[in-house]
Amino acid sequence: MATRAGGSLNPISFLIFAFLCYHELTSLVAGASTIGIGGELNYSSNPLVSPGGNFTLGYFTLSNTNYSYFGIWYTNDEQARKVWVANPNTPLLDNSGVLTIDGTGILKITSGGNTILNISDQVGTGDVNATLDDSGNFVLMDETQRRLWESFDHPTNTLLPGMKLGQNLTAGQNWSLTSWLSDYVAASGAFTLSWEPSQESGQLVIYRRGEVYWNSGLLRDQSFDFMPEWNAGSDMFHYNISYVSNNDERFIIFDAAHQNLPMWILNPNGQILDAANSRSLGPADFCYGYESDNGCANSLVPNCRGHNDRFEQRRGYFVGNSDTGGYDDNSSLSLSDCMERCWNNCTCLGFTNNSNGTGCIIWSGNLEYREDNPNNTIINVLVRGNSPKGNKWWMWLIIVIAISLLMLFLGLFCYLRIKKHRREGEQKKLLHELTASDSFNNVNEIENGGREGHDLKIFGFASLVAATNDFSNENKLGQGGFGPVYKGRLPFQKGATRLEKTFEHH
Ligand SMILES: *[C@@H]1O[C@H](CO)[C@@H](O)[C@H](O)[C@H]1NC(C)=O
Ligand SMILES: *[C@@H]1O[C@H](CO)[C@@H](O)[C@H](O)[C@H]1NC(C)=O
Ligand SMILES: *[C@@H]1O[C@H](CO)[C@@H](O)[C@H](O)[C@H]1NC(C)=O
Ligand SMILES: *[C@@H]1O[C@H](CO)[C@@H](O)[C@H](O)[C@H]1NC(C)=O
Ligand SMILES: *[C@@H]1O[C@H](CO)[C@@H](O)[C@H](O)[C@H]1NC(C)=O
Ligand SMILES: *[C@@H]1O[C@H](CO)[C@@H](O)[C@H](O)[C@H]1NC(C)=O
Ligand SMILES: *[C@@H]1O[C@H](CO)[C@@H](O)[C@H](O)[C@H]1NC(C)=O
Ligand SMILES: *[C@@H]1O[C@H](CO)[C@@H](O)[C@H](O)[C@H]1NC(C)=O
Ligand SMILES: *[C@@H]1O[C@H](CO)[C@@H](O)[C@H](O)[C@H]1NC(C)=O
Ligand SMILES: *[C@@H]1O[C@H](CO)[C@@H](O)[C@H](O)[C@H]1NC(C)=O
Ligand SMILES: *[C@@H]1O[C@H](CO)[C@@H](O)[C@H](O)[C@H]1NC(C)=O
Ligand SMILES: *[C@@H]1O[C@H](CO)[C@@H](O)[C@H](O)[C@H]1NC(C)=O
Repeated sequence: MATRAGGSLNPISFLIFAFLCYHELTSLVAGASTIGIGGELNYSSNPLVSPGGNFTLGYFTLSNTNYSYFGIWYTNDEQARKVWVANPNTPLLDNSGVLTIDGTGILKITSGGNTILNISDQVGTGDVNATLDDSGNFVLMDETQRRLWESFDHPTNTLLPGMKLGQNLTAGQNWSLTSWLSDYVAASGAFTLSWEPSQESGQLVIYRRGEVYWNSGLLRDQSFDFMPEWNAGSDMFHYNISYVSNNDERFIIFDAAHQNLPMWILNPNGQILDAANSRSLGPADFCYGYESDNGCANSLVPNCRGHNDRFEQRRGYFVGNSDTGGYDDNSSLSLSDCMERCWNNCTCLGFTNNSNGTGCIIWSGNLEYREDNPNNTIINVLVRGNSPKGNKWWMWLIIVIAISLLMLFLGLFCYLRIKKHRREGEQKKLLHELTASDSFNNVNEIENGGREGHDLKIFGFASLVAATNDFSNENKLGQGGFGPVYKGRLPFQKGATRLEKTFEHH
């Protein structure tokens, strides 16, 4: 085969050629995983590859901008999503950037010999080098194997198995994720994801520009209240979370042994994406307005926004001769910032941003919306829902008034009934007591609704009040099962007989 393939080549030069090819190939496929003092990575050098080949560290640019960065990605991720970025907020505008370890052992990015960014801050003893390992961690170590700096302690927007999310209390360090500004700009965006410990457990919390935006609910037995997809159903979705809590640190790490490309990404829209299963674990959509289910934090809503008002992505445009709204080219603004502005500005009709996903273009005022944008760009239109707010508030008012009136009448009716019943009950009780005594014989006849006995007297309440001197204490005989017992003097019209009678006052 060699002779046939080699043709006119002599065997020795073929062997040398083959060796060189092999060497080139292996160094390409399984490049070095370590750089030492003076070592350099630039746009044209081979990237670092972890010993098992799982992760790659190198130079990259993002489409739609000419910004360049250094970062880490899964070697076999077709989208090469960056699990860590060395210089998210200090990109280079050309390809002059160099990742290196200087003579003092500091890991840094330089351009034309000038330091652009110090990545590590600690200085070790003697020789140092930095290695990309198979968990995706880039570790700077000195001769004593002391870890001077590691990328897992400085997360960007991605959490990998084995990375911590939480707090090191002794070091005063937080492990949290920060979203990118947009898919094309790796700079710190509007959202951060933290682990917030509580007594026995804790929860994931997403902040938007420093304010609570969403929470997962407490971690209970490998599940979160507001992450229904998490660990639901099939084994393929299964993650194991370990929560470590002691006096020095409180954090979670996760483990997903059966996954291809396991990672959580906090995306520019404030969602936690499970890359292994291509789904959102966090809020299903933006949290805004009256949304408070699924962990979304309640936010103040301007009066002009109805319950069902939503933003919809449409390929339309606004026309009109009045004010076309604002254009804020602040490239630190993300889509969610523009959404926030539009939602809270009652004249806003819709918005979009620059092709790199930053800045705000806001339409407001007296404009008309048309479908079919010849430029084929997507804009976010605020669509009014059928809400009970605004146009139907009077219906609610009528219902409330009707219910109040009904309650009032019902209350009055009941009050009168009870009052009447009370009085009747009192009279009946007195009557019963009087007729049950020895002095009155024809009780049965009365109780059976028969004729009134000749000896029977029925006393009015007023006469009893008079007889007992308004149920005075000196007339009180004691306390019976039905209430206090009084004696009284009753004036009798017929005859001179004075009757003393005890009866109960209830
Ligand atoms: C980039 O680094 C490689 C070594 O990794 C070196 O050969 C090359 O000259 C460097 N390129 C530039 C433009 O510095
Ligand atoms: C990127 O650089 C190229 C060549 O210099 C230029 O034509 C292009 O407009 C740049 N793109 C952006 C988004 O700046
Ligand atoms: C995004 O685009 C706008 C407008 O084209 C530009 O001013 C801004 O510098 C760009 N930002 C980035 C990070 O490329
Ligand atoms: C990097 O660190 C060195 C000291 O180690 C300091 O002199 C220099 O100003 C720093 N550079 C940047 C860009 O922070
Ligand atoms: C590296 O990748 C291989 C195959 O994809 C996998 O079996 C192994 O667990 C990975 N190692 C680490 C440390 O992630
Ligand atoms: C990296 O540094 C460590 C500690 O100094 C040393 O043991 C190891 O051999 C070095 N690796 C390389 C590839 O230089
Ligand atoms: C927390 O910080 C302390 C002090 O820097 C360090 O000794 C400890 O290893 C850290 N814990 C973790 C889990 O990184
Ligand atoms: C870490 O997070 C805690 C709680 O979220 C906060 O109080 C603290 O200020 C943060 N520390 C740092 C250094 O960011
Ligand atoms: C999760 O933990 C359980 C018990 O420790 C173990 O049986 C299971 O294999 C783990 N699953 C994964 C994906 O690591
Ligand atoms: C609402 O937006 C319009 C157009 O951008 C602007 O003129 C107005 O000041 C904004 N109102 C508030 C309250 O921000
Ligand atoms: C741009 O927006 C960011 C984020 O809202 C803000 O902090 C910054 O002050 C703004 N810059 C300017 C020049 O308005
Ligand atoms: C299409 O784009 C051009 C240039 O950006 C702009 O002037 C025009 O208004 C756009 N048309 C529509 C319907 O949005």
